[in-house]
Amino acid sequence: MSNEWVGSAEARANIALTKYWGNKGGAETLANNDSISMTLGDECVARTTVRFSSEYVRDRVVLGFEGGEDVEVAGLKKDRVVDQINRFREMAGVDLCVRVLSHTSFPEGVGIASSAAGFSALTLATCEALGLKFDKKQLSIQTRWAGSGSACRSVFGGFVRWRAGETSETSYAEQIAPSDHWALRDIVVGVSRGEKKVSSLEGHRRAVKNPHYRQRLELMPGRNTQVESAILTRDFEMLAPVVEEDARDLHAIALTSNPPIIYWNGATLDLMRAVPEWRDEGVPCCYTMDAGPNVHIICEAEYEEEVLHRVSGLGVARFTFVNGPGEGARVVDDHLF
Ligand code: DP6
Repeated sequence: MSNEWVGSAEARANIALTKYWGNKGGAETLANNDSISMTLGDECVARTTVRFSSEYVRDRVVLGFEGGEDVEVAGLKKDRVVDQINRFREMAGVDLCVRVLSHTSFPEGVGIASSAAGFSALTLATCEALGLKFDKKQLSIQTRWAGSGSACRSVFGGFVRWRAGETSETSYAEQIAPSDHWALRDIVVGVSRGEKKVSSLEGHRRAVKNPHYRQRLELMPGRNTQVESAILTRDFEMLAPVVEEDARDLHAIALTSNPPIIYWNGATLDLMRAVPEWRDEGVPCCYTMDAGPNVHIICEAEYEEEVLHRVSGLGVARFTFVNGPGEGARVVDDHLF
């Protein structure tokens, strides 16, 4: 008789309003500063099934997006998934081989970190399969170990703060406000023509060696206080300048790292010039960018149409992708296989 353990979960991507950039090194992914994000909505879901079986003779990891082809991954991509699963295999005392199938609702390269949704869903599905019960705070700690730090924020829905802490036990995510607290929109403006990007992993490594990085760390507590209180009071005027400042600061660190990392292209800069002008003209919106050229424009729901109209007028968008705040990671009953 075969011995089987199976679990499935879903989790959504998130957009950082203040950014995690640079960590303390080591496998546990300890950030150097707190970061605050909005978990995205149903268009940015990763659904993952993890099945352990005595019938399997090797570990297999297959990734895909809805409407696309499933691809079995190897090398570093597979290693990161298997390393995370190994921690739980050890905890549960299970040594069966595993199959993982993960689908995202959005293709890679849309400027939304699929790793945050993916590793958050993977961690929860694995724990579910192996009967390991963690509360959400502990789950965010476990998720962080996957190496994609931002994934720990996707454990929670709505508006989330990752407290950097000093040790693994004190570095965790928590919810600041639920998803229905504030109807913000994240409009991703895709401007990339597929330039090769430097991974966040490499960006974190170079950041901590950058002499300007110390100043960033000094400024972060003030920014986080301002962003958290802007969220709590739904004050867009307070939110906008600090979100933009923090994004520029991350990219200033990237730009002055050695070797430098230039994530932007010309269209990124066009949007960085236009968005504050639109704000001056009475359309409350602000920009932010992660480790890539695509621009996320944040605005309140009522300005979504106007912002989309202005983006289209600028003529730089290859695609746009809109999300509101969404829910945190959760176990689901439907297995993908
Ligand atoms: C710029 O190491 O979490 O998005 O694993 O590639 O998703 P991935 O990145 P991670 O670094 C995230 C860097 C960031 C800022 C942020 O999300 O806080």
